[in-house]
Amino acid sequence: MNIIKLTAINKVYRTDEIETQALENVNLDVERGAFISIMGPSGCGKSTLLNIIGLLDAPTSGTVWLDGTDTSGMTDRQLASFRNLKLGFVFQSFHLINSLSVQDNVELPLLYRRGVSASQRRKLAQDVLARVGLTHRLRHMPSQLSGGQCQRVAIARAIVGNPEIILADEPTGNLDSRMGTEVMDILHKLNREDGRTIVMVTHNEDQARQTDRIVRFFDGRQVG
Ligand SMILES: Nc1ncnc2c1ncn2[C@@H]1O[C@H](COP(=O)(O)OP(=O)(O)OP(=O)(O)O)[C@@H](O)[C@H]1O
Ligand SMILES: [Mg+2]
Repeated sequence: MNIIKLTAINKVYRTDEIETQALENVNLDVERGAFISIMGPSGCGKSTLLNIIGLLDAPTSGTVWLDGTDTSGMTDRQLASFRNLKLGFVFQSFHLINSLSVQDNVELPLLYRRGVSASQRRKLAQDVLARVGLTHRLRHMPSQLSGGQCQRVAIARAIVGNPEIILADEPTGNLDSRMGTEVMDILHKLNREDGRTIVMVTHNEDQARQTDRIVRFFDGRQVG
């Protein structure tokens, strides 16, 4: 069973004057444990696709299956819970909370989990921060970190709840090449060693070639 299955996904954004077909009849299967790249020009629907896979946005029509479950009939509460358990997100601009320390940012997803004590939260956050090489920065604030360090905190936050799927939208887009390589190394490790399924949007052909499969989009349609 594929961990991600999209069938006949359409997404239309409507405003008063314009209608944009951001995705048109997208069908996609991602095997458990795969690392795939999504590529295509600006505006072709990559972020829209990732947001739909990640249950952050609903398709206009079509079905998103995650881990064998049809998510289309879920209530907002069920979607939020499913997201919290199964999915970890990494964004180009990190999306850290500036008023919280590194440790507290990483603990955040666990606050929504029942039955995880404060000391367990601390321990789990410290474990994942060690994995991304930031044990020496637990009490720092995001403003005191480099971009690469911020993205490593964001990755720690994405994996602290042990999600099977990691969705990364241009995770190295704001980083120089050295920091970008560090982040890619971490993603590859999470894929190879932990078997996490990763879907990454990237504009970088070299990075994409290092993944199992490249899915290309143009104008909302899958072209390869
Ligand atoms: N909330 C929205 N309302 C209306 N149109 C939108 C909205 N979000 C995206 N779009 C439109 O949908 C299309 C796809 O946008 P999307 O953000 O998915 O592109 P992208 O491939 O991620 O581009 P980039 O590489 O620049 O990030 C674009 O034409 C965009 O203008
Ligand atoms: Mg985008």
